[in-house]
Amino acid sequence: MVSEKDFISTEMASIEKGSFQWSSPSNIALVKYWGKKENQIPANPSISFTLNNCKTITKLDVSKKETNYTFSFDLLFEGKPKEDFKPKIQKFFERIEKYCPYLKQYHFTIDTENTFPHSSGIASSASGMAALSMNIMSLEKALNPTLTDDFFYQKASFLARLGSGSACRSIKGNVVVWGKHSEISTSSDLFGVAFPLQLHENFHNYQDTILLVDKGEKQVSSTVGHDLMHNHPYASTRFEQAHTNLSALKKVLENGNLDEFIKIIESEALTLHAMMMTSMPYFILMKPNTLEIINKIWKFRNETNIPICFTLDAGANVHVLYPENVSEKVLQFIQQELVGHCQNGNYICDQIGNGSQLIQL
Ligand code: PMV
Repeated sequence: MVSEKDFISTEMASIEKGSFQWSSPSNIALVKYWGKKENQIPANPSISFTLNNCKTITKLDVSKKETNYTFSFDLLFEGKPKEDFKPKIQKFFERIEKYCPYLKQYHFTIDTENTFPHSSGIASSASGMAALSMNIMSLEKALNPTLTDDFFYQKASFLARLGSGSACRSIKGNVVVWGKHSEISTSSDLFGVAFPLQLHENFHNYQDTILLVDKGEKQVSSTVGHDLMHNHPYASTRFEQAHTNLSALKKVLENGNLDEFIKIIESEALTLHAMMMTSMPYFILMKPNTLEIINKIWKFRNETNIPICFTLDAGANVHVLYPENVSEKVLQFIQQELVGHCQNGNYICDQIGNGSQLIQL
């Protein structure tokens, strides 16, 4: 079994300068991660679709410096200095230093941008931490060219997890499992792994249209949300349920049963929000328009038998999931019935994707 120690770098070489660039996508959980232990270890296993269009693109310029006492970096967002992102990066470097002891030997310029609007309510922490981790691994590979591809991706996911839990699911495509599960032998609490079984063709190019209901800042950070699962009255039942749902979903992803898929996915979304509503303090992240959309999706599904469903993340936005072959009808429905419930009519069309991509080495 891979352990944390396996990720401690003992790099050999040194470089004067380097420049790397990676894109990493966002991901949407099907079985949700909500609750964690020390060091970003998840309280239960989760599984997600990697997205294709909602991405962070990050360029990392590296230059060797004279001293190695502190971390040194400039942070640019869309080409302009962004001081308020720096504490998060500083904290990330502190967390991963043990595994990447070379970091203090370099000055970094991190230039990052998202393909989705900054104020869309789509969290950029997963794609952002994944893209930065891929770049750091490119630096590590330059210092130690013997690294295997498997190790490269596994450690990238391991580092991303330390930045933001769900970011570890944004390294690979198309379906990623994170957290130890008894029926997925390669699964680990330390990093995400690609779903090891054959994905049924029903899920090829599966669509995710993200309805932007509320683009405001998150009311409750996910750090606070995860913390509220400690001493939560339903925590242990919920963690068990995630294992059961992942077992059931594993079968569905192989056999293509969309009715079963819908039941698991929607129940997971509502359970996530039920956990928030039953914590102390309690909170509601859905908005009236979230519920309007959910009701209209249920009505449309009943009337047409078209297998669309919804999932939610820790916010009011709704992810509408459906197979590619019903896209035309669903998009028509979305435009006629659902767009009116989105803030300024905004929505983003995405679909299942292949994971992080190298842009420049
Ligand atoms: O990665 P975090 O700490 O922002 O947590 C993400 C939690 C959810 O998006 C609500 C669920 C998930 O599994 O992505």
